[in-house]
Amino acid sequence: MDIQITTQAVREVVCDALLVGAAASKTGETGVTLSPATMAVDELLNGLITERSAEGEFKGSSGELLTIHPMGKLAAKRVIVVGLGKPDAISIRSLQRASATAIRHAQKTGAHQLALALESNTGIDNVQAAQALVEGALLGQYTFKKYRSSQNDKEITQLRILTGSGDTAKIEQAIHKGQILAEATNLARDLINEPPNTLTPGELANRASTMAKQVGLECEIFDKEKIAELKMGGLLGVSQGSIEPPKFIILRYRGAPQSTDKGLALVGKGITFDSGGISIKPAAGMDEMKGDMGGAAAVIGAMQAIARLKPAMNVTALIPTCENMPSGTSYRPGDILRIMNGKTIEIVNTDAEGRLILADALSYASKEGLSPIIDLATLTGGIVVALGHTMTGLFSNDELLTDEILAAGRLAGEKYWPMPLDEEYSEQIKSDIADIKQSGGRTASSVTAAKILENFVENAKWAHLDIAGTSYVDSKKSYQEKGATGVGVRTLAELALRLAR
Ligand code: BES
Ligand code: ZN
Ligand code: ZN
Repeated sequence: MDIQITTQAVREVVCDALLVGAAASKTGETGVTLSPATMAVDELLNGLITERSAEGEFKGSSGELLTIHPMGKLAAKRVIVVGLGKPDAISIRSLQRASATAIRHAQKTGAHQLALALESNTGIDNVQAAQALVEGALLGQYTFKKYRSSQNDKEITQLRILTGSGDTAKIEQAIHKGQILAEATNLARDLINEPPNTLTPGELANRASTMAKQVGLECEIFDKEKIAELKMGGLLGVSQGSIEPPKFIILRYRGAPQSTDKGLALVGKGITFDSGGISIKPAAGMDEMKGDMGGAAAVIGAMQAIARLKPAMNVTALIPTCENMPSGTSYRPGDILRIMNGKTIEIVNTDAEGRLILADALSYASKEGLSPIIDLATLTGGIVVALGHTMTGLFSNDELLTDEILAAGRLAGEKYWPMPLDEEYSEQIKSDIADIKQSGGRTASSVTAAKILENFVENAKWAHLDIAGTSYVDSKKSYQEKGATGVGVRTLAELALRLAR
């Protein structure tokens, strides 16, 4: 898609659809609050938008759409007014979603050339709003259709951004940043949506390596022999039931080559398919377990964005990847595995495989002296029960790091909720015959999983993001299709920019 800024007036911009916003009225008041661009459109249309909202046809509630045919009063063929919700509830997240909803609608109705008028009365800084709207637009137009024989041509080819009266240079920068972040998110979505018969651990490594070449990152792939040499017993154990060999992917970005600080580590769970193994999962919904590499995809996407945004710090991505399959060679309940740092884990359920491969990656990260370490994983069903599909569970041994992630999340339009790591939860993961028991049972299962990971981070500052509920949506939304969300990519990139300051 070709994205360009234009200083043209709303009346003059030639396009299939012009997207403008309108906020709902404050509680107790009537009518909608029009942005300056929407107001200009309203005037050109002799007050049609104001009239429609006075009639109650359009209330400006979040994601609501009003389509108008200007009949030659504007150069645009159509105007799509999108509701932004109540003024005090407008956030970067809601702007992204409004923009995504509008663009998806325009795309469905066959528009190719779009114009988007930026908002300046949302209470959100103009430059941040510009970034959010562009992100939303590019995230909204995303579809995964490479395997559909009937490719339709409903594609947006051009997006013109009307800047209004804002600081054009800063807005231009924000648009560029939004584009980088959205493209990285869509890369993660492509990886997650790719079926597990093509996206094997080897193919995930190939994709990471291709991306690294494109943006100038260092890339190293460890094969099974090297993994065995490093004594990564978790990754070897989980992968032994599959004919697909495991890989350990390393991507390095050196934004502070002079620094003695080893920098940030991003660790992503890369289970390309989680059948549960010998403790096999029920059939219903098992197909969604192609998305069990959502953490890995988020980290790969984030590294692409980081390479393009160039924060002044070093960042290393570590991705353990394999398949979890049942077979005669699978690991079993009752087995004991030895992780890279020497600690032993008693296996009780082969479906709790993510913590085992992450244990090796976290051991590797702390041995390298990397800090802080952030891991992302579609780790537990427990976090889906606790937080649903709205918020990602955030576990951390460092309060400042927690605050940084929450702040980065707000900038990214992604929600995180702090979860506990109290020592009392360790009772549940005591083993009689090994250092750690692999599963703490049904209660607080997302917490006990995080407690297991904590054993492998040594002295590093560390945060664990359980994205099991947020990485994949099982039904379509107005702002995105069913499937991968790409959650985590934008938060990690914003975090790297913050930590580099
Ligand atoms: N990959 C799953 C977790 C998951 C659940 C991801 C739902 C996405 C959506 C993980 O490997 C798993 O199976 N966890 C089990 C562990 C249990 C058997 C101890 C869980 O949380 O139910
Ligand atoms: Zn599992
Ligand atoms: Zn899993």
